[in-house]
Amino acid sequence: MTAGPLRVGLAGLGTVGGGTYTVLTRNAQEIRRRAGRAIEIVAVADLDQEKAKALTQGRCPIFADAREMLAKTDLDVVVELIGGYGFAKDFVMAAIAQGRHVVTANKALLAVHGREIFPAAQAKGVSIGFEAAVAGGIPIIKSLREGLTANRIEWVAGIINGTTNFILSEMRDKGLPFDTVLKEAQRLGYAEADPTFDIEGVDAAHKITLMSAIAFGMPVKFDQAHIEGITRLQSIDIRYAEQLGYRIKLLGITKRQAHGVELRVHPTLIPAKRLIANVEGAMNAVLVKGDAVGHTLYYGKGAGAEPTASAVIADLVDLARALHAPIEDRVPALAFQPAQMQDMPVLPVAETQTGFYLRLRVKDQSGVLADITRALADGGISIDAFIQREPAEGEDETDVILLTHTCLEREMRLAIARIVQLSTVVGEPVTLRVETFA
Ligand code: HSE
Repeated sequence: MTAGPLRVGLAGLGTVGGGTYTVLTRNAQEIRRRAGRAIEIVAVADLDQEKAKALTQGRCPIFADAREMLAKTDLDVVVELIGGYGFAKDFVMAAIAQGRHVVTANKALLAVHGREIFPAAQAKGVSIGFEAAVAGGIPIIKSLREGLTANRIEWVAGIINGTTNFILSEMRDKGLPFDTVLKEAQRLGYAEADPTFDIEGVDAAHKITLMSAIAFGMPVKFDQAHIEGITRLQSIDIRYAEQLGYRIKLLGITKRQAHGVELRVHPTLIPAKRLIANVEGAMNAVLVKGDAVGHTLYYGKGAGAEPTASAVIADLVDLARALHAPIEDRVPALAFQPAQMQDMPVLPVAETQTGFYLRLRVKDQSGVLADITRALADGGISIDAFIQREPAEGEDETDVILLTHTCLEREMRLAIARIVQLSTVVGEPVTLRVETFA
């Protein structure tokens, strides 16, 4: 092989940066046989110089400032593993301006600033690789962008945050409350010291936003995503869901509808018999429905040094193979040709369609169920299943749990407004959404 190497500048030597360096070094020969040229890290940048020295062992220059690395090194591509949207955004925009390709694991940056970054890269004729930004080691970007390219994608739904999936698995397995399991997740190193983005659903929303763009050929619209995390989820609802044959997962969902696209993250009941309902612990999985292929399911590790490095390096191999190809001969960053992107509206959550789980605290009196079912029927909402717990000894109130068939969220909100007016219903109902993936 005579082609010159792909010259890589690696910015950020944290977990993923370290993993990328290690895997590229360990599998250099195997990767070169695939790529047709060597992939060489010719410079690294990290504020922690000692860590950088320990990793690179004198094999390449080390910079404290990634922008200095960019200015002083002859690079084909920068790998941005710094994170955040401040410095990382300036660095990525500077790399694009200098005509460097970019590979990044930074889902927050692309979801929030993608409408600026992708067109800037296109105008400069450089690629943005972001396989590592969604579901870690699972090659879901490549699958959506290339493997499923014949399909009209109907929807994508994923367990795309390992921290929250670990927490939900532990809550179900051990019957523990959210707060206790969160502390355990932090102790084990799954959850960050500040786990807000994970538990509030923001990280999953970044990822489903990127998948909505490549599934439907629309711009990234993170600012319009509906986001609910798992902080208010109660163990009792996990138990009732189980009695009804369902598991609760934090899903990122994007779905094509007649007048727009649904884009949402929330705890979701899924029938326990579905494969995706059985994805436990910190694992990720993404379910895609295409009109030709039907359902496809992708499973694997969504985080960690080498799984995420696997995705970073896959992007580097793509670049190495097509290093001298003009931008119009490359696979488009967002799967669709830039001129063919369509500005599809994101539907307000009230216009989305799901089944619902309702837990109502009711007085143990005759006619209660009739009142509730009438309120639902008046809204055209059909009941799929229900359970009524026997009142505990000495209690005159009990729980009624209902599952409905699919309806418009707006109709469900109206029905709930009628239900809470009933004198037999006590307190606020608990509502959760249901997806059957039938
Ligand atoms: N914090 C993420 C998770 C991993 O828990 O899945 C990186 O996106």
